This record gives sequence, structure tokens and C-alpha cells, in this order.
Amino acid sequence: MNEKKWIVGNWKLNHGLLETQSFFEFLRTSCQKERFQSLNIGIAPVAPLLSWAVQCSQNSGIQIAAQNVFYQESGAYTGEWSVRHLRDLGVSWAIIGHSERRRYFAETSEQVAWKARACVEGRVMPIVCVGETLADRESGLAESVIESQLKPVLEQVDPSQICLAYEPVWAIGTGKVATSNEIAQMHERIRKLTHPSTPILYGGSIHASNARLVLEIAHVDGVLVGGASLQVDSFLSILNDATQC
Ligand code: PGA
Repeated sequence: MNEKKWIVGNWKLNHGLLETQSFFEFLRTSCQKERFQSLNIGIAPVAPLLSWAVQCSQNSGIQIAAQNVFYQESGAYTGEWSVRHLRDLGVSWAIIGHSERRRYFAETSEQVAWKARACVEGRVMPIVCVGETLADRESGLAESVIESQLKPVLEQVDPSQICLAYEPVWAIGTGKVATSNEIAQMHERIRKLTHPSTPILYGGSIHASNARLVLEIAHVDGVLVGGASLQVDSFLSILNDATQC
């Protein structure tokens, strides 16, 4: 059981310098951080704005997360950055293996596992994403796909040192949330494969109107929010609901 619910906003390829600044300014002026002490809150902006987001979020109680990180510490890897760079900037968490990275950038579960390991070794909390496609689910393969995505990760890292996010690919950005039963079943399965203290987040079309329902499902320790984290008012409303779960 995890006492603190995790609410993580994944901004994907959205929001520039000014929107980042006004998001945090609005949060700061419209609520007191003490109100959200019962939550672990994170925002993942685009990589070039990580440092700026760390500055903007100072004293807000919100952690800044990367949307990706490479597994090597240094070397001839043009375009990449390492866990060391994140730590230097004050970035505490990194989303790893998001389905969009697996799909558009051909990331494999082995690479995801190496990234998770690099994060754990470098003391940045990895939020490892797993999720099946609609075709997987319709052919009864949802659980085995999740297990095969998790297996290499669990061979590389101790599950008590990571955070997981179950994000069915068909629920991401589609407005189609998995049913409470589907979420409960998969989270229970993942819990059995991991550790009682591993936070297991759900992600996929979470909005102000459904966050509370999902957060109350057994073994759901938080939510990973894409679209609804871009507007500060809908993000705030999710935070408010989460404090009551
Ligand atoms: P969504 O995205 O909330 O817009 O569906 C979730 C995610 O990709 O993490």
C-alpha cells in the first residue's frame, strides 16, 4: 500500500517557455502547497525546458520529471541526455517506455529496462510505462503483453525502487478509459509481479471527471495524466479529488 497518491502530468510535445511559467504561477497563486502534502505531484515538460520548469516550480512542492532519458552516462550518442544531467538540473523523476516512445521511436522493453536501471543507479525515480494495444486485448493477450514488457525491467531493477504506470495504448488520448474491472484486474496482476510498495499508476484519458473513480480502485496508487494536465484548472481539479481518496 502506498499512502501518498501520485499525480503526474505528462505534457508530451506541448507547452513552451511562457505556458510553463504561467502554469506554475497560476498554481502558486491559486493554492497553498500545504493542501497537497498528501500527494506526490509531478509535471513532465519537454526536455529543453526541464531546467526552466525546475526554476518555475521552486517551492511549489511539485517535482519535475523528464519524459525520457538515455541509459548510458556519456559518450558519442548525439541527441541524448543521461540521468546525470537530470540530477544536475534537479529533475527527480523520469517517465520511461511510454507507448509513444515504443511506437514512434522503436524503443524495446530491453532498452526500457536499461533506462530504468540507469535511473535507479543514478537516484532518479523511473516511472516505467507498460500497456497493451487494442489488438492485444481483443485477442486475450493483455496480461501476457504486460508481463513480457515488465519481465526485462524486473530482471534489471528491484521493484521496490521504481514506479510503474499501466497505460493501455487504446486508452491514451482517445477519451476511452479502461473500465474499473479492467483496471482492477491488471493492477492486481502487476502488484503480484512487483512489490507491495511499488506505486502503480493508471494512465489513459484521465480527466477531472473520472480521476477520483480511478484513484479509488484497489492497487491504483496514482494517475499519469496527458491532455488534462495541460490546463492548470483541470490539473488542479484532479489534485483536489486526489486529496480526498
Ligand atoms: P492522455 O495521455 O491522458 O491524454 O490519454 C496519457 C499518457 O499518455 O500518459
